[in-house]
Amino acid sequence: MLIKIKKASDVRESEVTDHGVYLNRRKFLKTAAFAGAGLAVAPSLVLPPHAQAATKLPGVMKSKYTVDEKLTPLKDVTSYNNFYEFGTGKGDPVKNAHKLKPRPWTVQIDGEVAKPKTVGIDDLINAHLLEERIYRFRCVEAWSMVIPWVGFPLAALLKMVEPTSKGKYVAFETLVDPEQMPGQVYNALDWPYREGLRIDEAMNPLTLMSIGLYGEQLPNQNGAPIRLVVPWKYGYKSIKSIVRITLVEKMPPTTWNLQSAKEYGFYSNVNPDRDHPRWSQRKERRIGEFLKRKTLPFNGYTEEVASLYAGMDLQKFH
Ligand code: MTE
Repeated sequence: MLIKIKKASDVRESEVTDHGVYLNRRKFLKTAAFAGAGLAVAPSLVLPPHAQAATKLPGVMKSKYTVDEKLTPLKDVTSYNNFYEFGTGKGDPVKNAHKLKPRPWTVQIDGEVAKPKTVGIDDLINAHLLEERIYRFRCVEAWSMVIPWVGFPLAALLKMVEPTSKGKYVAFETLVDPEQMPGQVYNALDWPYREGLRIDEAMNPLTLMSIGLYGEQLPNQNGAPIRLVVPWKYGYKSIKSIVRITLVEKMPPTTWNLQSAKEYGFYSNVNPDRDHPRWSQRKERRIGEFLKRKTLPFNGYTEEVASLYAGMDLQKFH
């Protein structure tokens, strides 16, 4: 088994969480009843109003969804990035992302839901239990990393707004603001950056809304203040700096699929048996390692997600 799933009873919060902070957070969540009454904020846990990257995150629990593999050094995770809003080179985001202001920030959640909301980022964060999850992250360009993300399941956020039976897909959008995102003055992509998931993929417990990594708030270049992480899909599905989440009935358009549908399908599941038209996906280079390693189907998360695609032709629905 490639993913180490601990029983809840095996997970010691004390490994990462001050017990008092953890209990306070639990007590708050029990009483806030945020699904019906809107979002309240736990006073003791409110993040500083202009919190920036490198702000330590309080009350983070270890997750049972985590792999036991060597972490990619923080320096590589934060300096070798894809974030076209700051330039198309891997070194551009770390140079240019200081222009992004991750506070104040709101996320609009709307579409086929009973309770649409526009939520301030710190209210959203404080309404959820935060977990650290170490995931493999496989880019379509055949490199990979192992990253300790901090976040909460997308399913928890979706339950808050109560999807209707017509909410069959979830569409995501990144901020558009060329003043903050200088790459948006060029037409490298069609802005806003968009992504989408089928509702059952969105509700899968592995699907994470990340607000931090290595125990601290997300650096801007990694998608501050909130991004998606879908570990069994190629990295481009993990959309950064999200401002809108919309439940929709039909499969939504997605950025890379619009660029080249043959190269980038809607599903984008990591699949060593389906070559990208311009290169093989059989192997990957883990950043920091010299020798390539074999790419695993669903990036090693087969046990958790293969059933979502039972009976589908994964060459056609790539
Ligand atoms: N999200 C936005 N808004 N813009 C982007 O250019 N690039 C994607 C994804 N999310 C991208 C994005 C790609 S191609 C990858 S591989 C990952 O972000 C990279 O995430 P990282 O820089 O944190 O490793």
